[in-house]
Amino acid sequence: MNSTRNEYVKETPEKPYYGYRIMSYFTGALIAGGIVSITLAIVFTAWSSILYWCLGVILFASGVFLHLSMGWVNNPEKIELVKDNFLDQLGNIWDGNGKVLDIGTGLGRVAVEVAKQFPEAQVIGVDTWMKGWKLFGMTKSGAEKNARIEGVSGRCTFQNGSALDLPFEDGEFQLVVSSFAFHEIKVPDRMVLLKEAIRVLAPDGVFVICDPLSGSFLKAYNVKNVPELLEKVQQVGVEDVRYESFKDAGVNLGGLAHLWEIGYLSGMKGGEDEETTRSK
Ligand SMILES: C[S@@+](CC[C@H](N)C(=O)[O-])C[C@H]1O[C@@H](n2cnc3c(N)ncnc32)[C@H](O)[C@@H]1O
Repeated sequence: MNSTRNEYVKETPEKPYYGYRIMSYFTGALIAGGIVSITLAIVFTAWSSILYWCLGVILFASGVFLHLSMGWVNNPEKIELVKDNFLDQLGNIWDGNGKVLDIGTGLGRVAVEVAKQFPEAQVIGVDTWMKGWKLFGMTKSGAEKNARIEGVSGRCTFQNGSALDLPFEDGEFQLVVSSFAFHEIKVPDRMVLLKEAIRVLAPDGVFVICDPLSGSFLKAYNVKNVPELLEKVQQVGVEDVRYESFKDAGVNLGGLAHLWEIGYLSGMKGGEDEETTRSK
């Protein structure tokens, strides 16, 4: 019996884990809480019933909204689509050589993929891995484990550091990427994140940032619309600034995911600009 179990363990290859399982648990808990509350509303009478109805409807609606707008993060097909499309974006603007930085790398999803896809690349994933994100399973050891399982740990390493003050010299990287991280960083003007990303890029180096860029997400850059954002980015010494929405790039995440208006912001670092050079 024991030997069979051991053989099974040996034969089961370790798989990398990049998911957000906790999101499904959270969505499930909201919907279940809503159903319980509505049931209690039917059982109780008068004020308690009204309160349970209100609570139940709010919880249930929040759970359904979360599922429709964010459910894709646990859908293997959608995750594969996002991954492939990101790599396509890179293939369009980068030759695959040099040092790469993945800002807010989490479990190293993008960093590891870039290392796998581009065998000449040296990739570093940087993250703060703060307490809150650890609850989501985002840890440095998790990222390192994924790189090991995928066979790229020699070229894909991870380092503690904040996107607000990257622990790297000016001009160290040929490519800077970031996926779904910038919107999580609360600062009065998210342009500081872009400037810091551009600072560590070598002249002619390129960046691709994948993030929601609509409504309040755009306001965080102190701009009203995407053209204004592109202009602002151009002003800090970036050439060939582009924005391509997931929709235009052919990424359909289904449900209400389009509400976030996710897309790619990309560009190439031009000549030296004072604003994107660290003052010593
Ligand atoms: C939604 S996760 C995205 C993770 C990964 N890029 C992906 O696409 O799966 C956001 C990540 O941003 C990281 N983060 C938050 N604030 C940060 C900061 N100031 N500097 C660097 N990373 C940060 C979090 O720790 C978390 O891993």
